[in-house]
Amino acid sequence: MSVLVTGGAGFIGSHTCVELLNSGEEIVVLDNFCNSKPEVLDKIRQLTGKDFKFYEVDLLDPDGVEKVFAENDIEIVIHFAGLKAVGESVQKPLKYYHNNITGTLILCEAMKRHNVKKIVFSSSATVYGNPHTVPIKEDFPLSTTNPYGSTKLMLERILTDLNVADPEWNVTLLRYFNPIGAHKSGLIGENPNGIPNNLMPYICQVANGTLPRLNVFGDDYPTPDGTGVRDYIHVVDLAVGHVKAVERARELDGVNIYNLGTGTGYSVLDIVKAFEKANNLKIPYVIAPRRAGDIPACYADPTKAKEVLGWEAQYGIEEMCRDSWNYMLKQKEN
Ligand code: NAD
Ligand code: UFG
Repeated sequence: MSVLVTGGAGFIGSHTCVELLNSGEEIVVLDNFCNSKPEVLDKIRQLTGKDFKFYEVDLLDPDGVEKVFAENDIEIVIHFAGLKAVGESVQKPLKYYHNNITGTLILCEAMKRHNVKKIVFSSSATVYGNPHTVPIKEDFPLSTTNPYGSTKLMLERILTDLNVADPEWNVTLLRYFNPIGAHKSGLIGENPNGIPNNLMPYICQVANGTLPRLNVFGDDYPTPDGTGVRDYIHVVDLAVGHVKAVERARELDGVNIYNLGTGTGYSVLDIVKAFEKANNLKIPYVIAPRRAGDIPACYADPTKAKEVLGWEAQYGIEEMCRDSWNYMLKQKEN
């Protein structure tokens, strides 16, 4: 039996495929490459020495999705496939609702037809909105401020409703905090198109001279140095969290929700300093106005993941900065 990985060619999906294969799981991968490249699949094979079946299928294509289930003995689905740019989701809400919600409904319908009722879903800390306190526990109130976040919250509810209607549905909701870093080999990582929105890819492009300086969005937040605080987590730690979630889903029933973060918050300036130290580089920056929609601080209480999944992040912030930059350097070489 196999683990179906939707969005397996993407940033978090590709690292998860590597960890699944390394832990002895059989996988089938589905992706439409709307935000990734086919070469990633060969890198996964190269890193693990293992092969797997791949389907270039759009989740919005019910026949394509049906074929994947008809041709394989799928036990559980890890569902990464989705669009994730917060700003774009505000500009193009229909695109986001259609891709993320309709795509997931088509996936779940195929799962139901084939009696596959275990799913691990990529949710996000964005479902906590602007939390009243930090660290954030899984039972904190939920709210969203943009269409991307709303798709995550709606999908959490849709999957929970499936379990209410039929308790055989086994649903794991993983709420990621801020994934950065890359595989140590530098063969897979995050490579956004155009000017990056997120902090670490932006810093990497300042470091390699593509962008002149970092704009630090606000230094007047109620945080120790006034800049925004987040829980950055190494993508390999996150990938290992998925392996643990799959193993645990085989034993537990119902809907299980876990924060996947380190539990430590770092400010924007902490990240600049850590990047400079880890890579022996200077990152020029200026203080710019706050970015609309940003919150002061967001970091996890990861106790539940430790207690129930037996999972805890292993990598520190300097390793995250080193591996992000190493990936960028390797990209240049290729
Ligand atoms: P990514 O864009 O690198 O990966 C997503 C993959 O899904 C891509 O390969 C893309 O081609 C594919 N995809 C998208 N729509 C598809 C469709 N309709 N059919 C088939 N394939 C499709 O993103 P990522 O950073 O790896 O994120 C993976 C998941 O985790 C997403 O659901 C994202 O919303 C969620 N998440 C990401 C972050 C983050 O900061 N990276 C944080 C929280 C949650
Ligand atoms: N920041 C800057 N300058 C930049 C980019 C970011 O100062 O050029 C700051 C932001 O203001 C924020 C911090 O760096 O304080 C992190 O910003 P990111 O854009 O990297 O990440 P966010 O926390 O805003 O959002 C990320 C994902 C969302 C997800 C959210 C919670 O992009 O999809 O984490 O998981 F919803």
